[in-house]
Amino acid sequence: MELRKENILIVDDDINILELLQRHLKSWSYHTYKALSVKEAVQILRDTKIDLLITDLKMPQVDGSELIKFVSEHYPTLPKLVVTGYPSIQDSLVAIKSGVADYLTKPFTKDELKSAVTNSLGKRDNLNSSSSNLKPTNDNSYGEIIGKSEKINDVIQVIERVKDNKATIFIKGESGTGKELVARAIHYQGKFSRAPFIAVNCGGIPENLLEAELFGYTKGAFTGADKNRDGFFQAANGGTIFLDEIGNASKAVQTRLLRVLQEKEVVKLGAQKASKIDVRIIAATNGNLKEMIKKNTFREDLFYRLTVVEINVAPLRERKEDIPLLIEKFLFKYGVEYKDRFVRITQEATAILQRYNWPGNIRELENVIQRAVIMCNKIIGVEHLPDNLKFDISFPEDSLLPLKQIEKEYIQKVLNACNNNKTKAAEILGITRKTLRSKMEN
Ligand SMILES: Nc1ncnc2c1ncn2[C@@H]1O[C@H](COP(=O)(O)OP(=O)(O)OP(=O)(O)O)[C@@H](O)[C@H]1O
Ligand SMILES: [Mg+2]
Repeated sequence: MELRKENILIVDDDINILELLQRHLKSWSYHTYKALSVKEAVQILRDTKIDLLITDLKMPQVDGSELIKFVSEHYPTLPKLVVTGYPSIQDSLVAIKSGVADYLTKPFTKDELKSAVTNSLGKRDNLNSSSSNLKPTNDNSYGEIIGKSEKINDVIQVIERVKDNKATIFIKGESGTGKELVARAIHYQGKFSRAPFIAVNCGGIPENLLEAELFGYTKGAFTGADKNRDGFFQAANGGTIFLDEIGNASKAVQTRLLRVLQEKEVVKLGAQKASKIDVRIIAATNGNLKEMIKKNTFREDLFYRLTVVEINVAPLRERKEDIPLLIEKFLFKYGVEYKDRFVRITQEATAILQRYNWPGNIRELENVIQRAVIMCNKIIGVEHLPDNLKFDISFPEDSLLPLKQIEKEYIQKVLNACNNNKTKAAEILGITRKTLRSKMEN
């Protein structure tokens, strides 16, 4: 997917509409920022170069027509598109009077949205000066991030979009895919890179301490609080706070976070007064927050405030063309560390690494190479790779064989590979000999 140059800000208090709009706009390769309220929209506008504003009119607290007035005054060249479920004459008048480019009523079709968006964007007079030049990514790396796959390129393009503004970012991806690396790149490639980057592992700090660690506390706030102390948020002021494994934050922490996101201020534990902070928040998870929302263990309102910009880091098995580059990087890194030279790898060993499905993603690949570098002399061969990699035999994804048969063929291949040694095969497959026998008999 190639990213278009336009940044579109969508404002709606209805989460479903927000998601629908985002889905459509993304499918046309626009880059989107979401806001649930006018207040949030104004914050994003302040920090970010937006090319089109799409807003609802009827919203609680501050109304959409106020936003339109504000934008007309402060960003006169920014096109505005009103999407509303209340097409009253009154609304249309206000919108048209204040110079709205287009007007779309809910429910609308995808095509109607598309032509409205293209239309509104077309009305900009300053077409060419509108966007930053995205960095070319043809040298196969971006800061510490290695890769040339489309999936990695998409991630890099989004980093380029967001690195110089303070919009809240949510990074999703399986374990070991490089979420923290992406968070660091956003901070260190951007213009706030000289301010602090503070990474907090919300799963690694005991629940009862996390609140105090994040937000700080005043003297006497709890037993043992013998002096005033800043938290991570105050420490990260001006820069970035990275909330890793956000799904592990308690409900109390979630409530406080929501306030930080809404008000841009932090209240220390035990304090009455809030203090303003200016921090970019990046949250990450390898879990499924939507499931947690259903089970009522994660606040839905917080989720939507965290996901103003979403970055999805794909698992390694979906970008296998990056594997050789990553191998090279880790060969160099560990070769220098353990052997004082660049270690090589045979074609056969590379083929195995290329074929394997990498459930532990890049971290698993890194560990495998690290271990192999230690075990080998100068050249990594098949014998230096762990057994489970050698027998990871993939079938074509569209193969329609019944599962039982696939399983049987798989077991047979493992058996062949270890000369019919059932004990060894069972060990590799992680099952007992008895299970192995019964599976082959069925
Ligand atoms: N594209 C990449 N290029 C180079 N190294 C990478 C890349 N992606 C990940 N790595 C390396 O892989 C390791 C795991 O990455 P990282 O810690 O960022 O993953 P994560 O998604 O945060 O994992 P977890 O969910 O387990 O915390 C790190 O050592 C990182 O440097
Ligand atoms: Mg991580």
